[in-house]
Amino acid sequence: MPTKATYLDNQATTPLDRRVLGAMLPYFTEVYGNPSSPHKQGRQAAEAVCVARQQVQTLLGARRQSEILFTAGATESNHLALVGATTAVCQPGDHVVTTAIEHKSVLATCDRLTRGGVTVTRVPVEPDGRVDPARIERALTPRTSLVSVMHANNEIGTVQPLGEIANILRGRGILLHTDAAQSIGTLRFSVDRLGVDLASSRPSLRCPAPNNSPLAGSHPVNRCSNCLAVTSPAKPSRAPAEPSR
Ligand SMILES: Cc1ncc(COP(=O)(O)O)c(C=O)c1O
Repeated sequence: MPTKATYLDNQATTPLDRRVLGAMLPYFTEVYGNPSSPHKQGRQAAEAVCVARQQVQTLLGARRQSEILFTAGATESNHLALVGATTAVCQPGDHVVTTAIEHKSVLATCDRLTRGGVTVTRVPVEPDGRVDPARIERALTPRTSLVSVMHANNEIGTVQPLGEIANILRGRGILLHTDAAQSIGTLRFSVDRLGVDLASSRPSLRCPAPNNSPLAGSHPVNRCSNCLAVTSPAKPSRAPAEPSR
């Protein structure tokens, strides 16, 4: 007798919510213009992207639509966030802090950064799977430019104390990036409230929001948008490093 398979790997990916499929179908079959094209089909597609950007802005608590960048997935968002931020603010010899339990896309990108002369510290987590903010603080050096700590872990589900880490970094001119691929759309998340400068997301992992969730009833397009939110630089920039001799 044929047995029906039960898919239990929803942390890796989820089936597409039928409401998302219904909302997206017209853009595959009818409104398929290139949003950069000036003709009617293109303008209609551009309008749909604009609506999606507004929805994601609201979902992430970002201040401006221009802070939302759409990507192909969280791996690309993490790469863009880490390489982009370090290219913008780091000089050889600068320092990045991350944790030992980040997704491979963060850890591999950090390894790549070391080839460009940036040093990286991987802070271990405690036995309960959470990183101790005090350990992050002890890892900081006068050359630290960026801290990258994931929000919810993809294997053990622990939620990291991002707000506490942001408080430690406040006023020091150190950017905070978070890989929120497993949390946005499920946990309450606001880049502004948490004090995060860059957030990567892959809401296609999310199951439909429960009825009492603040996300319930929101337009399903929200949940098929991979994106990187780059928030306004609210932090003072560090004094430029002394030129190396
Ligand atoms: C925490 C985390 N970061 C990054 C990724 C990579 O996402 P993607 O497959 O969209 O590149 C995943 C994938 O499951 C993830 O769980």
